[in-house]
Amino acid sequence: SMVVHSGDTMANMPAATNSPTTNNFWWPNQLDLSPLRQHGVESNPMGANFNYAEEFKKLDLNAVKADIKTLMTSSQDWWLADYGHYGPFFIRMAWHSAGTYRIYDGRGGAAGGQQRFEPLNSWPDNVNLDKARRLLWPIKQKYGSKISWADLMVLTGNVALESMGFKTFGFAGGRVDDWEVENVNWGSEKKWLADERHSGQRELKKPLAAVQMGLIYVNPEGPNGVPDPLLAAKDIRQAFGGMAMNDEETVALIAGGHTFGKAHGARKPEDCVGKEPAAAGLEEQGLGWTNKCGKGNAGDTISSGLEGAWSVNPIAWTTQYLDNLFAFEWVQTKSPAGAIQWIPKDGQAANLVPDAHDNTKRHAPIMFTTDLALKEDPEFRKISLRFKENSKEFELAFAKAWFKLTHRDMGPRVRYIGADAPTEDLIWQDPLPAVNHDLITAADVASLKSKILASGVKTSALVRTAWASAASFRSTDLRGGANGARIRLAPQRDWKVNNPKEVKRVLKVLEKIQVAFNKSQAGNKKVSLADVIVLGGVAAIEQSAKQAGHAVAVPFTPGRVDATQAQTDAQSFAVLEPKADGFRNYYSTASDLSPAEALVERAQYLSLTVPEMTVLVGGLRALGANSDGSNNGIFTDRPGTLSNDFFVNLLDMSTQWKKSVKKEGLYEGLDRKTGKLKWTATPVDLVFGSHAELRAIAEVYAANDGHEKFVQDFVTAWHKVMQLDRFDVK
Ligand code: HEM
Repeated sequence: SMVVHSGDTMANMPAATNSPTTNNFWWPNQLDLSPLRQHGVESNPMGANFNYAEEFKKLDLNAVKADIKTLMTSSQDWWLADYGHYGPFFIRMAWHSAGTYRIYDGRGGAAGGQQRFEPLNSWPDNVNLDKARRLLWPIKQKYGSKISWADLMVLTGNVALESMGFKTFGFAGGRVDDWEVENVNWGSEKKWLADERHSGQRELKKPLAAVQMGLIYVNPEGPNGVPDPLLAAKDIRQAFGGMAMNDEETVALIAGGHTFGKAHGARKPEDCVGKEPAAAGLEEQGLGWTNKCGKGNAGDTISSGLEGAWSVNPIAWTTQYLDNLFAFEWVQTKSPAGAIQWIPKDGQAANLVPDAHDNTKRHAPIMFTTDLALKEDPEFRKISLRFKENSKEFELAFAKAWFKLTHRDMGPRVRYIGADAPTEDLIWQDPLPAVNHDLITAADVASLKSKILASGVKTSALVRTAWASAASFRSTDLRGGANGARIRLAPQRDWKVNNPKEVKRVLKVLEKIQVAFNKSQAGNKKVSLADVIVLGGVAAIEQSAKQAGHAVAVPFTPGRVDATQAQTDAQSFAVLEPKADGFRNYYSTASDLSPAEALVERAQYLSLTVPEMTVLVGGLRALGANSDGSNNGIFTDRPGTLSNDFFVNLLDMSTQWKKSVKKEGLYEGLDRKTGKLKWTATPVDLVFGSHAELRAIAEVYAANDGHEKFVQDFVTAWHKVMQLDRFDVK
């Protein structure tokens, strides 16, 4: 199987002596709040006020591209360029930076520039990409904070393609760099390249999209090293599907990518290659995989352990890859490093491909087991043949798929910056129509609110509907949210968590109010249903706060628009469906997290802090906003009033909590003296009394001086959630 270069188990890493034993070691089952404590200003040298988008706009993008292009062919002695051109190497870097993205939780991807940090920096699959980024340092140094590493890696991939004669679909800047390791579930295996993530018919465990620990997608030699192209096809379909790619996009990407460059496995790694960056000595200065054999680079390079190129001219855009794939019958062989790969039968084409460094040598072209999948799998084969016959179609498909791959996690098109950003709407961007009307005024807002409150819809239903609309947002890939009013479209309108019957009923009323308002306007002023839905929440909360004796104004920013069904790819939205939403006390067994863990996950999607999560749960319970209308966690005798009763009653020692004998996962709060049933609760409710740090926050809101703070903090956090997808006003 694929070669691992050093210390193949993490247990081989020298243990830090004297490292303190953590709470997580003693109590591994305690709820982990660390997902909500990432990317703090403590880590960020740019400070909280740095506006990357503004800095990027100051860039002379053409000058940056020209510098990158010059760098492509300026071979450095310490890492010589194959064929005198770093382009293919840089494409692999960009591909690996974006290819970690997976649709199931929106994590991974090019944004953030996480390839700079562990574990990705030291993953077996990213071997020697440390050198690719180091080669780019002079460009990064020259332009400093005007271009992030995250943008620079993708831009460099694009310039590489262009400098080798390929016309790309465009480039958008706007990826902000992270300054610390992102907390991502990359799998639970304790050994590199281990695979304990499949079950049943080789189904990958979600949210993972890669087949083995330390790989970004699939094993080039075939599933767990088994050289079977058809089995490899199955893995490819699943892994690339997890990257949001269909069969056509997948074939285009692999065939397009492997038109360029070569694989590196000149010698046996165990004889030559040192430790990965994170395990290497200080004197290596952040580099790893130091190769002590021969030159240590160029013709002696050992990366994946596979060896050879796919096409005759690996530094030019050609149709060679598909031509070769179908021109020859391929037979198994082994690379000098010992990896399984394929060459043409009977020694054919043995002199087709030039050597990358020695012009007296020539080689046979190669294919990986995964490349042969594009020929052997019946569906892939159809597409491969069509692309082989129609080079223009292939070119456009690769251009579009490459653009999607590298921009998939940037969110909507309004976030794209720079002159090279394409303006065409693409369905995977979850497009929104432009605002083509005047926005409502403060007076309109006031009148709409009173109409909504007079409509007879309960405040709890208004709150639920507004929350349902906004809380589909995912900070991990910036999809979902209230803008577009997609809650009235498939698939959101049918999500169980949204209480489809109720949402339908509430939306009917709100739409009536919206239509009447728009009809009554003389000029070009309009309000969208998306805005009215959010306004319903605003009106309900203001009324509930007033009832509690703390009148507040909930902020509201109009300007949302209503998307159409044609702008909404139901299949692509399906992955956003919440299997649990602790804020609405909703949990289904389809969730692969426990109820409390799922709450933290949802809170992270909503970019919330620990106190914000806490105040929202307490407030939503007071408002009676449970998804199914149940009384679980509604520790108040006046639901619909924005009181701090949830916290007061949770911490009240006159209640004794017990597991319910009637229903698993439910708890009963009994009067300690009389034994009378007072409340019922879910694990999400009770964790705020059980977890010491959450209880500390609950105490703040339950205190006698805590009510006003509670109302203020709730309103602030609520507004934050409603605004999460308002990239148009950020
Ligand atoms: C090289 C695997 C898809 C672009 C390689 C190498 C491996 C590999 C093992 C050799 C690395 C080395 O030893 O230097 C795979 C597999 C894929 C896949 C298993 C999917 C089934 C892609 C895609 C792209 C791409 C989608 C880009 C669109 C490249 C390029 C190189 C390369 C340009 C050459 C790098 C160089 O010359 O240094 N790939 N790859 N690959 N891959 Fe892929």
